[in-house]
Amino acid sequence: MAFSRSIKIAPSILSADFANFGAECRAIEAQGADWVHVDVMDGHFAPNLTFGPATCKAIRPHIKGVMDVHLMIAPVDAYIEAYAAAGADVITAHLESGPHIHRTLQAIRNTGKKAGLAINPGSGIEQVAHLIDLIDLVCVMTVNPGFGGQKFIHSQVDKVRSLRSVIGARPIHIEIDGGVTVETAPLVAAAGADVLVAGSAVFTGGSVDAPEAYGRNIAAIRKAAEMAVPGLV
Ligand code: DX5
Ligand code: ZN
Repeated sequence: MAFSRSIKIAPSILSADFANFGAECRAIEAQGADWVHVDVMDGHFAPNLTFGPATCKAIRPHIKGVMDVHLMIAPVDAYIEAYAAAGADVITAHLESGPHIHRTLQAIRNTGKKAGLAINPGSGIEQVAHLIDLIDLVCVMTVNPGFGGQKFIHSQVDKVRSLRSVIGARPIHIEIDGGVTVETAPLVAAAGADVLVAGSAVFTGGSVDAPEAYGRNIAAIRKAAEMAVPGLV
């Protein structure tokens, strides 16, 4: 995974047809997705239950690009090896998932995978400076974890801007997760984000039999974001 700060669209399969994940992953990649975002929830850290390592392992052969696994689980350390073995390229744990996030990020890095740190809307970025050598990605939650289709929390845009200055020129991605649309993508791209997770805004209006809508949605979000970053296009 070579690092670039170009805008990357990562559709979240939480909004896909659960009975057809393989075909959905192939369809979104064929329609322009850069990464595939996989939301793992345990019904404890997040008020919903989704995918175990077995599901990730099953969809891995259907993803040519980056499998971006977002762990909304607590505790998290006991599951890191399993998601790495399932083929995740990026494994993201939440700052709020336990008292030893430094150890958790070390454990992710020890699997040889990219380590991500996710931050809930109610949390600050103060800890990032203490973890900066252990992270390859910071995921700013712009909704509270749990569901797709929620409203974007605008107050998080300032957090993205502050994060961009903390990270500076380091090869660390800023990922935005929740409520990303053609309207909100420019706000976070202008603030310094490069990975845009989008579930409902990508999958709405399409299907594996009619995937063109996926392509239009992905292209529209990308264009809106790129237009907001001077010198990117
Ligand atoms: C929410 C998840 C998000 C969600 C995004 O807890 O982490 O990835 O699926 O979906 P939209 O883009 O519909 O808000
Ligand atoms: Zn997510």
